[in-house]
Amino acid sequence: MNKKLSLKIFSDISKVADEMQQETYVIGGFVRDIFLNRPSKDIDIVTVGSGIELAKKVAKKLKPRPGVNIFKNFGTAMLKYKGMDIEFVGARKESYQRDSRKPIVENGSLNDDQNRRDFTINALALGLNQNNFGKMVDPFNGVEDLENKIIKTPLEPSITFSDDPLRIMRAIRFSTQLGFEIQTETMQAIAKNRERIKIVSEERIIDELNKIVLSPKPSIGFKLLEETGLLEIIFPELFKLKGIEKVKGISHKDNFYHTIEVLDRIAPNTENLWLRWSALLHDIAKPATKKFIEGQGWTFYAHNFVGVKMIPKIFRRMKLPLNDKMKYVQKMVQLHMRPIVLSEDEITDSAVRRLLFEAGDGIDDLMTLCEADITSKNPDKVKRYMKNFKIVRQKLKEIEEKDAIRNFQPPVTGELIMQTFGLAPCKEVGLIKDAIKDAILDGEIHNNFEEAHDFMIQKASELGLKKKD
Ligand code: CTP
Repeated sequence: MNKKLSLKIFSDISKVADEMQQETYVIGGFVRDIFLNRPSKDIDIVTVGSGIELAKKVAKKLKPRPGVNIFKNFGTAMLKYKGMDIEFVGARKESYQRDSRKPIVENGSLNDDQNRRDFTINALALGLNQNNFGKMVDPFNGVEDLENKIIKTPLEPSITFSDDPLRIMRAIRFSTQLGFEIQTETMQAIAKNRERIKIVSEERIIDELNKIVLSPKPSIGFKLLEETGLLEIIFPELFKLKGIEKVKGISHKDNFYHTIEVLDRIAPNTENLWLRWSALLHDIAKPATKKFIEGQGWTFYAHNFVGVKMIPKIFRRMKLPLNDKMKYVQKMVQLHMRPIVLSEDEITDSAVRRLLFEAGDGIDDLMTLCEADITSKNPDKVKRYMKNFKIVRQKLKEIEEKDAIRNFQPPVTGELIMQTFGLAPCKEVGLIKDAIKDAILDGEIHNNFEEAHDFMIQKASELGLKKKD
């Protein structure tokens, strides 16, 4: 505990606070993370008086670069020092209106300030004045909750959540990140106040959701979202995956639980947020494509393609990026069944080349996704798939080394085809180009200029084209 407070920044703040005779504390996430041994570079300083004046005086001493950043409207000031972000604010009392997350703020005591915070574990304060340096102020037994791994609100939970409904998401996010349990009344209040999430902007919601997705075991958060009724509001497409239907004694698996299991399974193998999103969305179109066919059972025909089409709408609504990140997720969803299909058949070079061509640099991620997608409870089946995937990976490696298909560039360009046969852009140019590509992917010719050139001449003559003199 005291090791972190021995940072010079704290003794400097302490001196200035004493000179100003202002009661001053370090508060919130930084104190919590000292206990949890989590690295933290955000320091929140609260002072009974002007936070801006305190920051200005501290800045005079530390001479940080860039200088102190003042947000007059919020009564806060920020400075960066040795990689730390330090925020200063005067202790405050807040009251909220029903339809807004923006509180009415008045000056207050440390206790008022702790009252307005989200969870007991986030309301801990450590004194910074000389007479109480390092002394804990813990009015809500936050330390005990840290030890018992409990998330609960300092005030009556409905007040805390209704004041700021983003805290609903924060509770679930902290529970997922830290592996803490949400206390029963707090859980009930989340469910009761769930509709209030609608006054929170999508940007804030997605920030929290992404932190859940990036947690070591994301299913904790998704189960909590489902149990509290939030999932249906913020992510209806995922909610629709829930449930099992039975026809003529045949049922399909619950695709919600399958999906979050896939997400848990991929978590140890990647920190890539977009690969994790691909896991979350890989079966998103199963409800839309579900059909019971006599003799075949449950089918989800083309659910990968329909999934690809659903993604832009989901990304737009959730304020996720509509750029190459989204395209990457679409590619993963589109191709997510290919390695399985490939591994079930005889693994031909041609099929491997085609997969490499379509997946490009995403091939390793695609294999990681497919391995996570094997959630069968039948150990023999799992073993068989894993063994086949090993063969697929090996084959992918061999073919890539031999043919360099991953970033395929046609060895003969459309330009050259036009020049050689004296053509303007036309259908035939496309036909010849595609024929060359297919011949390479099918292994008829190698991926080099000479063979592709000869093949072009042959294909062109089949089409009745003559070389220009
Ligand atoms: N806080 C709050 N209600 C919110 C957001 C924040 O009461 N909706 C308080 C909490 O005391 C929190 C502190 O402000 O500890 C700082 O918030 P923030 O920096 O957003 O989060 P941390 O708790 O530090 O955690 P993390 O960095 O993981 O988001």
